[in-house]
Amino acid sequence: MKTSEIRQKFLDFFASKGHQVVPSSSLIPGNDPTLMFTVAGMVQFKDVFLGFEKRDYTRATTSQKCLRAGGKHNDLENVGYTARHHTFFEMLGNFSFGDYFKHDAITYAWEFLTGEQWLALPKEKLMVTVYASDDEAFDIWHKTVGLPVEKIVRIGDNKGAAYASDNFWTMGDTGPCGPCTEIFYDHGEEVAGGPPGSPDEDGDRFMEIWNNVFMQFNRDETGTLHPLPKPSVDTGMGLERLSTVLQHVKSNYETDALACLVRAAARETGVEYSQSVPSLKVIADHIRACSFMIADGILPSNEGRGYVLRRIARRAIRHGYKLGQKGLFFHKIVADLVEEMGGAYPELRQQQAYIEDNLRAEEIRFAETLEHGMALVDAALQGGKTRMDGATIFKLYDTFGFPVDLTADICRERNIEVDMDGFEREMNAQRERARAASSFKMTGNLEYAGADTRFHGYETASVDAKVLALFKGSTPVEQLAEGDEGVVVLDDTAFYAEGGGQVGDCGEISVSGGVGALFDVTDTQKIKAATFGHSGRVVRGALHVGDTVQATIDLHKRLATARNHSATHLLHAALRHVLGSHVAQKGSLVNAERTRFDFAHGEPVSAAQIAEIERVVNRIVLHNVEVSANVMAYDDAIRAGAIALFGEKYGDEVRVLKMGEFSTELCGGTHVKRTGDIGFFKIVAEGGVAAGVRRIEAVTGEGAVAYAQQQESLLKEAAGALKAQSSEEVVSRIGSLQDNLKTLEKELSRLKAKLAASAGDTLADSAVEVGGIKVLAAELEGADNTALRETLDKLKDKLKSAAIVLAAKGDGKVSLVAGVTADLTGKIKAGELVNFVAQQVGGKGGGRPDMAQAGGTQPEKLAEALAGVNAWVSGKL
Ligand code: ALA
Repeated sequence: MKTSEIRQKFLDFFASKGHQVVPSSSLIPGNDPTLMFTVAGMVQFKDVFLGFEKRDYTRATTSQKCLRAGGKHNDLENVGYTARHHTFFEMLGNFSFGDYFKHDAITYAWEFLTGEQWLALPKEKLMVTVYASDDEAFDIWHKTVGLPVEKIVRIGDNKGAAYASDNFWTMGDTGPCGPCTEIFYDHGEEVAGGPPGSPDEDGDRFMEIWNNVFMQFNRDETGTLHPLPKPSVDTGMGLERLSTVLQHVKSNYETDALACLVRAAARETGVEYSQSVPSLKVIADHIRACSFMIADGILPSNEGRGYVLRRIARRAIRHGYKLGQKGLFFHKIVADLVEEMGGAYPELRQQQAYIEDNLRAEEIRFAETLEHGMALVDAALQGGKTRMDGATIFKLYDTFGFPVDLTADICRERNIEVDMDGFEREMNAQRERARAASSFKMTGNLEYAGADTRFHGYETASVDAKVLALFKGSTPVEQLAEGDEGVVVLDDTAFYAEGGGQVGDCGEISVSGGVGALFDVTDTQKIKAATFGHSGRVVRGALHVGDTVQATIDLHKRLATARNHSATHLLHAALRHVLGSHVAQKGSLVNAERTRFDFAHGEPVSAAQIAEIERVVNRIVLHNVEVSANVMAYDDAIRAGAIALFGEKYGDEVRVLKMGEFSTELCGGTHVKRTGDIGFFKIVAEGGVAAGVRRIEAVTGEGAVAYAQQQESLLKEAAGALKAQSSEEVVSRIGSLQDNLKTLEKELSRLKAKLAASAGDTLADSAVEVGGIKVLAAELEGADNTALRETLDKLKDKLKSAAIVLAAKGDGKVSLVAGVTADLTGKIKAGELVNFVAQQVGGKGGGRPDMAQAGGTQPEKLAEALAGVNAWVSGKL
């Protein structure tokens, strides 16, 4: 059975059991600061498990893109060396949100795996584990399903702490968790390894294929478990592992979905296809991870997700090097991946060229990094050192983008110990510096379980509200005193929380009546999907939980931000209109000052195109069309042609923002009422930010007026400086100034030559006799190449029989000429003479035996080099 059929069968099975089939979410978890990547199918349902979000179904099934690299769930180091580990993989899952529990979860799993019309796996090949104390699950397996007791293994807390167990699943350090039951497939005696719970369990013989988690708790930052509102079910089955079983092979890399990539890796690295070469499997796995990450909007960088991408890509490239492939190869495998998975994941096909460009660019960067980095590694290990210190590892990482695991790899190959503790210390120190430098923004990890915030900011700028919670640092407090910095949670608010590229609102929260407390809000961020944190500082009095307050936004800033946000939608539409429909949004930042919009486009936008885009946007502004927002079902919105941002998390209900017929986008931001409110739109910058991604910055309204005024005053200043009568005259004035300048430069060079030549007359006297011939090595101040050559000729005439080197310095450079009269070229070659000096000043050159030229880059070494000429000549005689 092919991988694609298995995926479909799974979804069909659970659909037939009343489950809603939900599409895979992005690899970047939406609205979740606690997770780096989507590590399991349940991630997109986290808030549903926690009871913070409601869907109109209680059973769901998905095939989810997952990534386990970096963070708590990290399989990177295992990839290539086991039959079953991946960074990127697909997880099949069925979920119950307070609907069915252990009984149905277990019997559904059994029916799907062993049922005749489903997978029909032989029952005797399966065994299971349960959490040690979970008698209920044990009984269901034994009594209801009929599994013999020897096929049910109880596993307790085997990882050194309470609830730290293979059979207790947690999403991250915090979040939903619970005991689980896992199903294993026995590949048979000929494969090494023992059953779960035995000392040899890490072998490949017994492979875990399915994990059924009974979600019962929410784990907080202190490790305490709080019961969830409703016991739920979260299951995960590795699609690749299931294919292995159903295709009767021993390793995931032999299945249809991965073998083609192993084969492509062999082709591109020029080695023979083989399943026993770890490097080929590493490349096959990593091309999936890298391509899907880039398709979901991540680009290689030195921090966060971008750094994980960089590490994975570089690990793959290095494995290519190991196989002898020193050229660019990794990006060439994207096409094979698109062929295999582009059907199920259209984003791969749509962005193929973009993915290839970025991986290729990373291959080139890595080659450069390796060259610099290897020199640094060598230098650090000079003198037979046997240990690489943490500071050097950090420097390699921080300054050269040299991945830490790569340094470790190289050291391992050379038997050098690495000081990882020292590295961690440096890393922490840097994190601390970064934290201190960043502005006051700390709503990410606040623990808050109270009511949500009702947002009224679309309709009003000020609301009456009640203080639900206060935080000082990350600690919940009852009051914030004057001068305290903290976060305020309200039941109602007019403040927009940062999202969809738009910054959070500023403003003030005041206790009503008299000279009450006043809290200055400098930012608004989401604590959870529907809870807003207002960050700032108490500037007067004290604020208490329970206070009745008035929350008023800085309307001037908000309106400016709204103008920029609405203009961004018009810009997006105009870009598609002028450049083509391939233009997809890659990121945006909208604040009161400007809008910054990143989009996929392969080449710079020309000045003419920019002018056209500005015209198109301003035309819609002048049409003054109405801006409307409607909340509707996601599917209806997409059917109606709304542009959804790829990788963004949307709920079932979405807000559709429409500007006449010109633009329809899903957007939660705040906008103008009619396009005329934007006033005036002006692009102020265009440039590239990554391979295939351009960035446009633009201003609107008062910002655009200020920009135009500033440009005009610059022009006036220039006109004044040029003594032009009007701005129009500026260009012609510059033209004639340039002409004048050229004439003067020519004149100057002529005069310099003349000056140098007359200096040459006096120089002849400073020639010295060396072994019977005249030698002259001198510096000619202010001379250019022409002057040097002309002086040389003069000196040759004058001295009749001589070897001469002349030099001039300027701008970090040295120019050199050497001449030897014809009678002496048998003994001394001008080329050798000039090179003798050039080498000492960081350059080289050459020419005829009687005349040669050279350049150098170290003027500070010139005097010494010239001083050595006499001795050099004497050595030649
Ligand atoms: N969330 C569970 C896992 O990832 C099913 O194993």
